[in-house]
Amino acid sequence: MRQKIVAGNWKMNLDLDEGKELLINILDTDLNNDVLAIVAPPYIHLNSFKRILSHTNIGLAAQNCHHQDSGAYTGEISVKMLKSVGVEYVILGHSERREYFQEDSLAISFKVNTVVQNGLRPIYCCGETLIERQDGEHFKTIAKQIKQGLFNLNEMELLNCIIAYEPIWAIGTGETASPAQAQEIHAFIRKTIAQQYGDLVANNISILYGGSVKPANAQELFNCPDIDGGLIGGAALDAKSFATLTHSF
Ligand code: 13P
Repeated sequence: MRQKIVAGNWKMNLDLDEGKELLINILDTDLNNDVLAIVAPPYIHLNSFKRILSHTNIGLAAQNCHHQDSGAYTGEISVKMLKSVGVEYVILGHSERREYFQEDSLAISFKVNTVVQNGLRPIYCCGETLIERQDGEHFKTIAKQIKQGLFNLNEMELLNCIIAYEPIWAIGTGETASPAQAQEIHAFIRKTIAQQYGDLVANNISILYGGSVKPANAQELFNCPDIDGGLIGGAALDAKSFATLTHSF
């Protein structure tokens, strides 16, 4: 059975005191124990967050990593370092990294490989621009991102990945893909994986939806057959909303 997941991508928000306050507020809420809750705070919070989360079921994710273990890469953080502070998941291929930091699929695939080889789990993001959708190119874009980012993994490695479909036009805009639009792409991602790895692998990978998910629209999205939860931005910065999302299946 596929894991149901609600992951909060905090992006570049909240200093350490503000972040700890939100984390403690999240711990005070009634999270749904049948759903894997993950928080992805900025790098600088990870070490102290791991200590706060040590006796909980909440997963800890980084928002990025470098693909090398060490070396002369000023300002970068390796997967080995993330692992040493107890990080379990790494968000990779987010459209904000692709757009603002010029990360192409080759660079992202190196990171995916390093994360998997270190025993951590990538949360691999894909998604089309508004123009690509209007031009009817969205299936092509998604297939390319999935194949380039993930298809050099073997079956077991791929099974360790979580995929997030985040249409760029829906991120932080208040505009959400309709359940039908999201379901269509999630089914397409699963079909693309099935063609390469078979149905068993495809049916066991969690595929999350991201893009303006909030308590008011989560249920209709999370109830779609191929949507296994969400990768949440803005609404994850509020403890109550985050908790409500874990109950929205
Ligand atoms: P919003 O939920 O703020 O639209 O952000 C989605 C996202 O980018 C999560 O990674």
